[in-house]
Amino acid sequence: MKTIDDLSVAGQRVFVRADLNVPLADGTITDDGRIRAAVPTISKLIEAGARVVVASHLGRPKGAPDPAYSLAPVGRRLGELLGQDVVVATDTVGDSAEAAVAGLGDGQVALLENLRFNAGETSKDDAERGAFADRLATLADFYVGDGFGAVHRKHASVFDLPARLPHAAGGLIASEVGVLKQLTEDVKRPYAVVLGGSKVSDKLGVIDHLLERADRILIGGGMAFTFLAAQGHEVGDSLLQTDQIPTVQEYLRRAQEKGVEFVLPVDVVAAKDFPDLRTKAPAGPVEVGADAIPAGLMGLDIGPRTRELFAAKVADAATVFWNGPMGVFEHPDFAEGTRAVAQALVDSDAFTVVGGGDSAAAVRLLGLDENGFGHISTGGGASLEYLEGKALPGLAALED
Ligand code: 3PG
Repeated sequence: MKTIDDLSVAGQRVFVRADLNVPLADGTITDDGRIRAAVPTISKLIEAGARVVVASHLGRPKGAPDPAYSLAPVGRRLGELLGQDVVVATDTVGDSAEAAVAGLGDGQVALLENLRFNAGETSKDDAERGAFADRLATLADFYVGDGFGAVHRKHASVFDLPARLPHAAGGLIASEVGVLKQLTEDVKRPYAVVLGGSKVSDKLGVIDHLLERADRILIGGGMAFTFLAAQGHEVGDSLLQTDQIPTVQEYLRRAQEKGVEFVLPVDVVAAKDFPDLRTKAPAGPVEVGADAIPAGLMGLDIGPRTRELFAAKVADAATVFWNGPMGVFEHPDFAEGTRAVAQALVDSDAFTVVGGGDSAAAVRLLGLDENGFGHISTGGGASLEYLEGKALPGLAALED
């Protein structure tokens, strides 16, 4: 894989595919981690005298312009972080984008509008994606892939465009891949993996893969209830993917066979209703045993005994990978489980990796010191798919 140092970018138009898909609430960015992570590569190109054309997706608009998903607030924040103006185009390949790029001087930066405002970006049809990539290619002389969070997507700007321009990997992709390699090729043991998040179906591939590699797997978040139900426990009104119970039972059986320790919650913090994340009004949390959650209550976080258990299982590991919050951390009544796991990673001497948008955002929203972690990945789905051993289109496309 080439790096930026292999390209002669001075005076040239360089298309940087970043992942600036940040969480927004009413048009305000609530966590700018991915924008900050994109800055070093863009700054390097600015210093090298390139004319930098930054592009990203934001959210999942339906292939047409939708103001709710405009990158304009991201462009403002990017300009603040770079300490220079960023021209924000109002389209991706139309008149505005062409004018913005044509107006760039050496060391200046333009940001295209959300790539997913064009149906060609995410199309499953190779020709439709290719046609969009052809148009994007007219805006640049070089391509730099640096949107690690999107490398698992076979999208026009991720997969098809690099085939049309001389290309290289940006610094973020290089460092993310370097870290994930340590987890797949030369992992120090015991290797503990903490998985959370709402849906077990999103994590099946990675669990399947980790059963062959990890020494212990800790399960929290909404997905834990499918595991508890698979063990025959009542889960009350908690999130449950009934159709996944047989698969999960099979995983539990395989884990036992292979000596992989599965650690499930022993208690949970529950409430009658899902909390209001806007008002953050008190939700009436109660602590109940994980083996008998009463009807009428839904588990929304791991409980205090589970926090201690998980912290102990992290404490004596040599490598820890964590993906997915332990509960509804956006509400103060259900944030302690996620905070406890994050703190356990900070306190441990292990090589710790936080994988993913949500867990990375949780670390920052809960006010933990980012420097306390070995690595905080910008990619959620991307890091999971990497660990699954899947070929990632956005990385394959950057091979020479
Ligand atoms: C992410 O948030 O994981 C990436 O930005 C990819 O977004 P997507 O899941 O909408 O493709």
